Amino acid sequence: MSSQKFLIVGKSRLKGTVKINGSKNATLPILAATLLCSETATVKDLPNLHDVNTMKDVLTYLGARVNREGRKMIVDSSEVQSLEISEDLMRRMRASNLVLGPLLARFGYVKISYPGGCNIGSRPMNLHLKGLQAMGAVITEKFGYITAETPFGLQGTEIHLDMPSVGATENLMMAAALADGITTIRNAAKEPEIVDLQSFLVSMGAKISGAGTDTIRIEGVQALKGTEHTVIPDRIEAGTYMVAAAITNGDITLTNVIPVHLDAVIAKLREAGVQVTVNEDTIRVQGVERPKAVDIKTMPYPGFPTDMQPQFLALMSIAEGTSIISETIFENRFKHVAELRRMGADIRLEGNTAIVRGVPGLTGAYVEASDLRAGAALTLAAMAAEDGTVLDGIEHIDRGYERMEKKYNPLGARIIRVNS
Ligand code: UD1
Repeated sequence: MSSQKFLIVGKSRLKGTVKINGSKNATLPILAATLLCSETATVKDLPNLHDVNTMKDVLTYLGARVNREGRKMIVDSSEVQSLEISEDLMRRMRASNLVLGPLLARFGYVKISYPGGCNIGSRPMNLHLKGLQAMGAVITEKFGYITAETPFGLQGTEIHLDMPSVGATENLMMAAALADGITTIRNAAKEPEIVDLQSFLVSMGAKISGAGTDTIRIEGVQALKGTEHTVIPDRIEAGTYMVAAAITNGDITLTNVIPVHLDAVIAKLREAGVQVTVNEDTIRVQGVERPKAVDIKTMPYPGFPTDMQPQFLALMSIAEGTSIISETIFENRFKHVAELRRMGADIRLEGNTAIVRGVPGLTGAYVEASDLRAGAALTLAAMAAEDGTVLDGIEHIDRGYERMEKKYNPLGARIIRVNS
């Protein structure tokens, strides 16, 4: 379905300095949280991505006035009216479901189309809904739509998540910010984006503590006020550059990073023999002729991020030795494997585990990105490969990387975007 492709010339060695953008996954819940108050909220350092534009469209559709000035978005939700979101908007991005908690808390009613499955697994919403129900919401699921109502308002309560879902933690934090009384979320997700959401909500006057640990305590308040906030740097964009340096035997320095957010990725790169030099807010990655094979198991933060698994798998496909890569977060996140095989990788899949026998090098091929991070992984593999690659499905990449070719080419990559 894609109308554009990447032509990637291989055997590049990436060198130079690159500034990391604001985090996509911090921006999306923060923009959803602007719906909680009827004053103006300004969010700064936003990445210029399709997913961020989709969230802007969702806010506008709901009746918010949204102004974008470069990397700044000013949202005035005082006149939000529509409390229903169409299937079309929900289908464009799963994270649109993050408006559920804020709208329910502020207006007592919301109807959204079920986000459905996606390319990396079924991705249900049961934990979001169970948590809201525990707070007193009445949920009905009919004809592919979820309707949530609060006949008696939302009440603070104890919620124990069956697993530390990022989206469920965020939705419940936002709902609880305006609920009556105290909510405690246990087994909460600990991702840095949750901490950033807490900072944003606190700056609006919410009473929340504990984000970054597995227990978050929210004392509901009557109303929230306008604010200004700068989003954290994107740890996955940063990690992708780090693997790009490693896979091309390059030398890249990242600025605007929070190195502690990348601890798991740094540890694995070092274990693979890649040199990583960490300063306060910069990271330098120097590749080696051939990395050593290391094993990876994706885990909730602070474990190795699932959003870095495809890129790391690409790196391991040219490593010395065999690595075992286990995906524990998503059920179907190995679609890049078949494409990497087309490029000469030797990978065997056994359920949620990939056994990667490193080969000395990859060769260009015609491949297709099935999702965002798979697309990034294939781009990295193509930059390191012999000959050229045609990468289809790059609309997935545009969802999460800002004009990838424009940022990578100055470092020595040769990526051309073509209309097909
Ligand atoms: C977020 C990130 C995504 C990342 C993921 C895991 C955003 C916008 N997206 O997605 O990039 O890959 O965290 O780090 O921040 N689950 C349930 N029931 C639920 C909710 C989730 O079973 O109600 C399961 C999912 O199917 C999945 C796992 O929990 O297997 C983790 O999902 P979750 O942490 O919720 O991911 P997202 O918030 O969707």
